Amino acid sequence: MSGAGAGAAAAASWTRRHLLGTEGLSREEIYAVLDLARELAPHAHGGAPRRADLAGRAVAHLFFEPSTRTKTSFALAARRLGADVVDYSVATGSTVKGETTVDTARNIEAFGIDAVVVRSAHAGTAALLARTLRVSVLNAGDGAHEHPTQALLDLYTMREAFGRLEGLRVAIVGDILNSRVARSNLWALRAVGAEVLLVGPPTLVPERFRELGAEVHHALDPVLGDVDVLMLLRIQHERQVAGLIPSVREFAWLFGVDRERAARLREGAIVMHPGPINRGVELTPDVADGARSVVLRQAANGVAVRMAVLKLCLGAPAESGR
Ligand code: NCD
Repeated sequence: MSGAGAGAAAAASWTRRHLLGTEGLSREEIYAVLDLARELAPHAHGGAPRRADLAGRAVAHLFFEPSTRTKTSFALAARRLGADVVDYSVATGSTVKGETTVDTARNIEAFGIDAVVVRSAHAGTAALLARTLRVSVLNAGDGAHEHPTQALLDLYTMREAFGRLEGLRVAIVGDILNSRVARSNLWALRAVGAEVLLVGPPTLVPERFRELGAEVHHALDPVLGDVDVLMLLRIQHERQVAGLIPSVREFAWLFGVDRERAARLREGAIVMHPGPINRGVELTPDVADGARSVVLRQAANGVAVRMAVLKLCLGAPAESGR
């Protein structure tokens, strides 16, 4: 699955115009993205852009929630492939005057754009737009539901570190209940044969996650020496977490990773975090910036992975396009 052209070959198995989630993506589809991203990576950072790939196409950003990494890397990805990017800004847009998300998106579609990248606080927003619009819809996070490009860049980063995904043991730690990153990673990691451990207090990691094929653990210390990847997640305070943990300080004491906990990881194990990090809560600064941390690789890999997703979805056969 390596070498020039491998991505293009794998891309033949991709027929989706939308990327709404990783639930239901096959192993082949996931590798189609990862292989193409690897092929595009030299063009993502510094190297010559590939402006012919999406020349003349336009991508609209509809972000109803804050974003740093996702929005910036989607924009860079689109531009590196030659597409124009238009940005709908929530603070100055008409949703504050009562316009619905669908009406906003329909008007932006009427400008002749080819894809909408949407982030919303509400689960199902991307799927709703995919049913309503004729253009490609890429989910950049819908409530606590899915954040597929984050999971794909996380898998890319794990593959970069270990050379494989199958059989890796990946612990996802923290606010699983409210995390779209956890859900998207769980589906994607299961599809490629990795083992997923969900770790946190029972209020944030309900037993029912076992039904989705994950191990459920309510203590961090016993799993530290038993995993290849430790992925920390932020407490999603914006999604009604109040009352589910005694205090942030107690959460950090039980589930935060400091130098002493990091030292108990296996040789070669990596520490991941999608950002934004609350330093001193999920990770102490020395661990966040330490030798095991790949958090900046994750952010950087987001550009190539989003280039791959844009190219695959916008390059879907004309008859399945608009
Ligand atoms: C995540 C998100 O928005 O879901 N951030 C990101 O995209 N890198 C995680 C988070 O906000 O905690």
